[in-house]
Amino acid sequence: MTRLQVAVLVSGRGSNLQALIDACATPGFPAEIKLVLSNMEGAYGLERAAKANIPAVTLPHKKFASREAFDDAMDEKLREAGIEFVCLAGFMRLLSPSFAKRWEGRIVNIHPSLLPSFKGLHVHEQALAAGVRISGCTVHYVVPELDSGPAILQAAVAVEPSDTPDTLAARVLEAEHRIYPEALRMVAEKRVRLENGRAVFA
Ligand code: GAR
Repeated sequence: MTRLQVAVLVSGRGSNLQALIDACATPGFPAEIKLVLSNMEGAYGLERAAKANIPAVTLPHKKFASREAFDDAMDEKLREAGIEFVCLAGFMRLLSPSFAKRWEGRIVNIHPSLLPSFKGLHVHEQALAAGVRISGCTVHYVVPELDSGPAILQAAVAVEPSDTPDTLAARVLEAEHRIYPEALRMVAEKRVRLENGRAVFA
């Protein structure tokens, strides 16, 4: 079986990375993580990569003159490692439109809301301020616009009256850990693809 060669991009804790590592370790999983890339030195996700014997690189974005220069360096690392598909997992950097275009259809993100609601930062604060009774998470194809692009999978999570941003985040995170591996499986098994800006399901 040839497995989809995946890179996971992180900026911090990397719990979604861990969910993907665990999924890839199960027999018959159709994808393999070949590289973890972080824009933040000391990100805990790097330790998770080390524990799983996955090559990891840090590219501190502050050391690059421009977003494009940083993205070009990332692109080079991804190509060097023979990466076919990229998963953003708590990667808190805007991507340049040219990078997003270069990887179009081969890059996905997870976001802790039911997109298109509550893009950007402070997502759970936004959900609580809006008074929604249901929130959730979305795995979507990456397009140049932030937190946009067609969804591959979404999961709904009830918002409880007693929720704080932290309690809601924790409940949504559990759902993230369920759907991200499932979305990667769908991609690797070619059960979904991006076509003319839409997710097409086989
Ligand atoms: C996750 O909740 C992820 O959905 C979110 O950051 C957290 C990262 O946690 N991503 C975004 O908000 C991207 N717009 P993790 O590092 O433990 O996976």
